Amino acid sequence: MTRLTVNNEAVEYLLDPATPLLWALRDASNLTGTKYGCGTGSCGACTVDIDGRAVRACQTTLAQAEGSFVTTIEGLSRDRTHPVQLALIADNVPQCGFCIPGIVMAAAALLKRNAAPSEEAVAAAITNLCRCGIYPRLIESIQRAGRAMRGDETITAGARPGIDPADAAKRVPALSPK
Ligand code: FES
Ligand code: FES
Repeated sequence: MTRLTVNNEAVEYLLDPATPLLWALRDASNLTGTKYGCGTGSCGACTVDIDGRAVRACQTTLAQAEGSFVTTIEGLSRDRTHPVQLALIADNVPQCGFCIPGIVMAAAALLKRNAAPSEEAVAAAITNLCRCGIYPRLIESIQRAGRAMRGDETITAGARPGIDPADAAKRVPALSPK
């Protein structure tokens, strides 16, 4: 049994401690916002926050995560109002839903440490792969999120996607409104 805290809830996983955290989150906890891309630690689609650090969940075993505080994209903000989410939506950064959760988690962890990162600091922290070339506006948008976190800018929430949360929760229970 492995005990950890996931999105502020105590969880006990009755899985082999060698199981990648990614599978525990996705298959046991139904937190499918954390994506499986490469499985080799290269793409960052599986990035979660562990004790304040952005970590590749596919390269982290349950045993390594024992006792830690894990935050996934579902736990970052229930209503998409984290400054990184507001900025990325306002700047039309996302091209897909696959790489973006990991990018958001990596950016949020960066801004928690440093809310005024240089372009170089953002580029160094965001090692996630995106095949569609969003990087220039992604870096600007993450810096904008930092300004919002510092109170230097207000970002208006973008339009809702028009999906009823209750309908979404039928397919993905992790999205159940709380
Ligand atoms: Fe983990 Fe690609 S799935 S880094
Ligand atoms: Fe997801 Fe480029 S926005 S791969």
